[in-house]
Amino acid sequence: MRDTAAIILAAGQGKRLRSSLPKVLHPLAGRKVIDYSIDLVRALGIAKIVVVIPANPTPIRSYLEAHHPTLDLVIQDPPRGTGHAVRCAQKVLKGFRGDSLILCGDMPLMRRESLRAFRREHLKRKADLSLMTSFLEDPTGYGRILRNSDGRLTAIREERDASPQEKAIREANCGIYWVKTQILFKGLSSIAPTNAQREYYLTDLPGVLLGKKMSVHTWTLPNAEETHGINTRAHLARAHAILYKRAAEQWMARGVSIADPNTTYIEPGVTLEPDCTLEPQCHLRGKTRIGKGARIGVGSVIRDCEIGAGAEILPYSVLSESRLEADVHVGPFAHLRPDSHLKKGAKVGNFVEMKKTVLGERAKANHLSYLGDTTVGADANIGAGTITCNYDGQKKSRTEIGAGAFIGSNSSLIAPVAIGRGSVIGAGSAISKDVPAEALGITRAPQRVIQNWSMRRKQRGVS
Ligand code: UD1
Ligand code: CA
Repeated sequence: MRDTAAIILAAGQGKRLRSSLPKVLHPLAGRKVIDYSIDLVRALGIAKIVVVIPANPTPIRSYLEAHHPTLDLVIQDPPRGTGHAVRCAQKVLKGFRGDSLILCGDMPLMRRESLRAFRREHLKRKADLSLMTSFLEDPTGYGRILRNSDGRLTAIREERDASPQEKAIREANCGIYWVKTQILFKGLSSIAPTNAQREYYLTDLPGVLLGKKMSVHTWTLPNAEETHGINTRAHLARAHAILYKRAAEQWMARGVSIADPNTTYIEPGVTLEPDCTLEPQCHLRGKTRIGKGARIGVGSVIRDCEIGAGAEILPYSVLSESRLEADVHVGPFAHLRPDSHLKKGAKVGNFVEMKKTVLGERAKANHLSYLGDTTVGADANIGAGTITCNYDGQKKSRTEIGAGAFIGSNSSLIAPVAIGRGSVIGAGSAISKDVPAEALGITRAPQRVIQNWSMRRKQRGVS
């Protein structure tokens, strides 16, 4: 579809969302609402994409410039209806000979297969304009498709201008059109704002073209769900659910086990290899990649991580921007912050927090620890309650722990500090000086035992 253009309408006010954030910038299943329309037309191979945006608020403009730099942005100021919005694109498409696809910036559920089928029908019929319709259980708010006794389209009637009989029609206008670009702009110049909202309606265009004996056709969308637009917060929630369910179905078809697709949230940038298992309520975000046969436990939240084959993430672990090699065990209740790297077979247990830390092959930190700015060698054992004191209030410092070292429980390692290969730190030590390889480092006050002390205290009457 290289010889076609797309016009995406996004200048409406979106008042029904009651939000200070513009409608098309609301987050939706890992993207923004507008991204779905842009990705859709890109996926069709349409290179010329015009987006009609409002003069205010400007965040739409800055978002699009930063994330989709090749778009043509045109401003509609003030917004005077969908017909007027499309007219604003005329200056960019002057002299453009191909067809244009018109769609809204708030229809994130539309699928590319549907738009392709719609395109084929438009070409087959050699139509000047084709419009997409769908049969809705509840068409409230949509323009209705009016047909004559032969079943031919005569006009589109907006809800506010419709009679009770017209409101009973269930065939709705989806707001998506394929149209010959030059005919589009010529037709729009004869539309007047003679309706309840005093707006220039794009939906008047089919009637105008039919009046000029041009060929106008409809194509009916088989799956009405794709028409679902975003006008309210309830619509957003519904779109969330549908998009995540689609993602889960797609991954199941590729060999991933998903215990509960209704509560599994896989964002579009995530990739999963076959035979992974996702337990309920997992959130997989950003560019996360999960290897063959890995298991992700209940309630885990994983963002921008690479997780190796056979890894086991136990419930309620929160992992971000980290790399986990094959066969690691993590959690339950582990927190891996950015730049953590677990090498093959490493083990991180419950209530362990890590940040900018490398845990060597088969090394273990099984319970209740904080490891920050640390390198741990292979086969080392980090005892329960070990804390790396990496921050002195001004700067961060590193801790190095050699291969096979054994850090006794409840030790504080005061960075910068290095613990040599194979050495042992006595439980409860506060280590501030380097410990050489194969040595014992211990800082512990000698224990005193006072015989019968407790008995004497009771005799003194102190309980
Ligand atoms: C529109 C259609 C309706 C159709 C429905 C499908 C018109 C008049 N009505 O109604 O027949 O059933 O879509 O969802 O076309 N916009 C602008 N500038 C404007 C007004 C709107 O850019 O001046 C943009 C909006 O940002 C939105 C799109 O156009 O992306 C549709 O506008 P909206 O107000 O949501 O139209 P609907 O009432 O949904
Ligand atoms: Ca709408």
